Amino acid sequence: MSMTPEATDRRSISVTVNGQRHDVDVETRLTLADCLRHRLGLTGTHLGCEHGVCGACTVLVNGNTARSCLMLAVQADGAEIATVEGIASENGEWHPLQKAFHEHHALQCGFCTAGILTSMVEFLQENPDPDEPEVREALSGNICRCTGYQGIVQAVLDAARRLRSPNQESSS
Ligand code: FES
Ligand code: FES
Repeated sequence: MSMTPEATDRRSISVTVNGQRHDVDVETRLTLADCLRHRLGLTGTHLGCEHGVCGACTVLVNGNTARSCLMLAVQADGAEIATVEGIASENGEWHPLQKAFHEHHALQCGFCTAGILTSMVEFLQENPDPDEPEVREALSGNICRCTGYQGIVQAVLDAARRLRSPNQESSS
C-alpha cells in the first residue's frame, strides 16, 4: 500500500538559529538554505551553485561549517545554527572578521562574503594563529569571483591578530 505524499512529505522541526528557537513545519525535501532564507527570512545566507562547490551557503551547525544547500532542513532538527546574521556580538558590535573585511576591502559584490565569514569563524577557532598559506588553504572551499582573494587573506590574518589581542587595533 502506497502512502499519500501529503502524509509523508512534511515534518515539524525545531531549530535554534542565532540563539532564537524556531518551530517550523517543512517539506522533507526543503533544504536548510531555503528554510533559512524563505521560512525564517535570513537572506544573508546566499545560494550560488546549489551543489556544494562554491561555499556561498555555508553556515555553522552545532559549531561546524555545513553547506546548507546540501543539507535538508529536517536534518537540522534540534540543531544550533549560526548564520552570518548571528556572528556579531549581542550588542551589535561587529565580529573582528567583519571589521577586518570592512577595513581591508575584502569584498566587492559581497555574494561570497557570508559563506567566507562563517567558514573563517570556524577556521580561526581551530587555528587562532594561521600563516598565509594556511589561510589560503582554508579559503579554498569558498569561491570569490571578484576580489582575487588578496584582501580576504589580509583580512583573515588581521582578524586572527585581533582575536588573539582584542584590545589591539588593526595592524594594517
Ligand atoms: S550554494 Fe551551497 S556550496 Fe554553492
Ligand atoms: S566579492 Fe563578489 S564573489 Fe566575492
